[in-house]
Amino acid sequence: MSHNDSPTLLTGMREAIEVDLKRSIESLDSEPYTELAHMIGYHMGWKDQGHPRGKRLRPMLTLLSCAGIGANWEKALPAASAVEWVHNFSLVHDDIQDQSETRRGRLTLWKRWGLAQALNTGDAIFALSRMATYQLVLVGNSYETVLDVQRILDHACLQLTQGQHLDLAYETKENVSISDYLKMIEGKTSALLSAASAIGAHIAGAPNSTIESYRSFGHHLGLAFQIEDDILGIWGETNLTGKPTGDDLLRRKKTLPTLYGLENSTTFSHLFLQETDDVDPGKLIAALDEVGAGKYASSMAQHHIDLALAALIKAAPMDPAGGELKKLSLRLHKRQT
Ligand code: IPE
Ligand code: IPE
Ligand code: MG
Ligand code: MG
Repeated sequence: MSHNDSPTLLTGMREAIEVDLKRSIESLDSEPYTELAHMIGYHMGWKDQGHPRGKRLRPMLTLLSCAGIGANWEKALPAASAVEWVHNFSLVHDDIQDQSETRRGRLTLWKRWGLAQALNTGDAIFALSRMATYQLVLVGNSYETVLDVQRILDHACLQLTQGQHLDLAYETKENVSISDYLKMIEGKTSALLSAASAIGAHIAGAPNSTIESYRSFGHHLGLAFQIEDDILGIWGETNLTGKPTGDDLLRRKKTLPTLYGLENSTTFSHLFLQETDDVDPGKLIAALDEVGAGKYASSMAQHHIDLALAALIKAAPMDPAGGELKKLSLRLHKRQT
């Protein structure tokens, strides 16, 4: 295959992911459970034309990593779905934890259906992830591979909840350091991206050292991705991100730009640490701009993109998948959605 085949490869993968994800809820979509199926479909962006879907970054990582080793990516498709379901379960619960009212440009599940039903839907999505992994045997993988994949994924889930624990605890904790922050995002975001990439390589039968390079690639990509998400949460445009700008500031999230602001601007610290809901996000942003907090965060994101690219060189993926993994990393830093 040549580079020219890349668009076909990506389109084929994206379509296959969507078909496989949708297939897993088909059996749920009958009375008396149609509303539950509807809630899942609503969150995934399948219900109405024009409803934005997620970027499906994590399952694409799984498939591209598998293809990068030279294996048929269809062998990793159920694992890609499992990874995307885990991500979506975490988003449904995260929106409850963060009290976020909008995601992907529409009301969050809890805002529309209430806390109890949203929690339950998140649980259903978590179960769908495990059900997806078992499908790996139907596309030529051994039971041992299923167990390996599930173990990697369960470990990532545990790390994700550890990261979420820190994220929530930091809302009211003083003196959060940059290294505390990195530990937190390593859990809440990076763990799943590393697992996504490592799982693809594992299914393809790569040696351990190569799997490790893919894991490291996903790890640094995940750190850069979350830092970029922090930046977009302050300076991004709501109509592009689908999430209201300023939410993180109002919830006093310890993001990389705010930590930099706390360390370097007394104006910012004073405003940010006030115990009132009345803080003007515009003033907070101006104080961050004054000390270059956005530039600092952006350079940290770039640093982790560079480390991701170095890990990718070590992994030496075959083209066209390798080229796509590289492009995806370079695009991430300038991502709009
Ligand atoms: C959002 O992830 C949560 C973070 C880890 C920053 P994405 O930005 O990948 O969410 P979707 O799936 O594309 O909506
Ligand atoms: C993302 O958390 C990580 C998880 C969902 C586990 P955030 O709270 O930072 O992400 P957004 O901005 O709500 O998507
Ligand atoms: Mg959130
Ligand atoms: Mg959160």
